[in-house]
Amino acid sequence: MREADFPSFLEFARREGWSCDTAELRAFAGANPDGCLVADEDGEPVGFVMAYRHVRSAWIGNLLVAPRARGHGLGGHLLGVLIERLDAVVPTVYLNAAPVARELYGRFGFQELCPVARMRLATSIGDVVFERGGASFPGLMSLDAECWGDCRREMLTTMLSARWVVHDVQSGSYLALGVVEDRVAIGPFLLGHSAPEPAVRLLRRALGISRGLVGEGAVVADVPVACAASMAAVQELSGEQISETLCMVRGEQVGVDFSRIASFASLGSKG
Ligand SMILES: CC(C)(COP(=O)(O)OP(=O)(O)OC[C@H]1O[C@@H](n2cnc3c(N)ncnc32)[C@H](O)[C@@H]1OP(=O)(O)O)[C@@H](O)C(=O)NCCC(=O)NCCS
Repeated sequence: MREADFPSFLEFARREGWSCDTAELRAFAGANPDGCLVADEDGEPVGFVMAYRHVRSAWIGNLLVAPRARGHGLGGHLLGVLIERLDAVVPTVYLNAAPVARELYGRFGFQELCPVARMRLATSIGDVVFERGGASFPGLMSLDAECWGDCRREMLTTMLSARWVVHDVQSGSYLALGVVEDRVAIGPFLLGHSAPEPAVRLLRRALGISRGLVGEGAVVADVPVACAASMAAVQELSGEQISETLCMVRGEQVGVDFSRIASFASLGSKG
């Protein structure tokens, strides 16, 4: 994928209702150029898939085929090429599957790991001071590594450079948020220990900050259903579920500690 392909992808993504921007595509292409594939038909891009490679695992995102080209094997072909490349460099591959693509991923050996609830919350007026938690990043990085059994530092550093981070010192928990188009996306959001109270404290602060960023716009988070503390906290703050995906894994499995992953770092595409 070249930079000249970005506008086509963004247009198809917008039609799917996905939140994505040029910065995200640059991050993908910069981190793993061999993992960003585009299929052309008569010189026009009609299919895309991207991977973010960490140290011992990778994440597949943004598998998208132009509506007119669907049903002819292109999605499966792109996935097959990408998986072959990833198998050569990492033992484990994750993704969050939309319902329409679950069967396709299953055919490539992906297994169910955990349902993921996309939750929408409302911003709130609160006495919140804007904050950037630069000093908190090392703590967030090591908590993320503990939960995922991998070092995802490169991806997190890129994401966090454009996000606000709040830190709950009492529990050693972290929540980052950023504006994606007209809404706020929460993530990464990690709990020092699995309990609803720190999740509620951090979410309250996040919703106050969000009011300053997007007014009454939506705040969204992809919450692993297995994180009971986060699900309870979101519900306590009147969050509602708007869709569901499925986190799937292929290859060697290390224990992922979903009980402390209060939300994925990104909305679907990067884990
Ligand atoms: C999912 C997607 C990438 C599949 O691309 P594709 O080129 O149609 O895929 P393939 O032709 O290789 O078909 C793979 C499977 O997708 C499903 N599929 C195929 N055409 C489809 C269509 N028009 N509508 C819905 N599902 C379809 C079928 O299960 C198919 O299996 P089959 O070959 O046994 O019939 C494509 O439907 C798409 O871009 N969807 C919107 C974006 C999306 O949801 N992406 C997945 C993110 S996790």
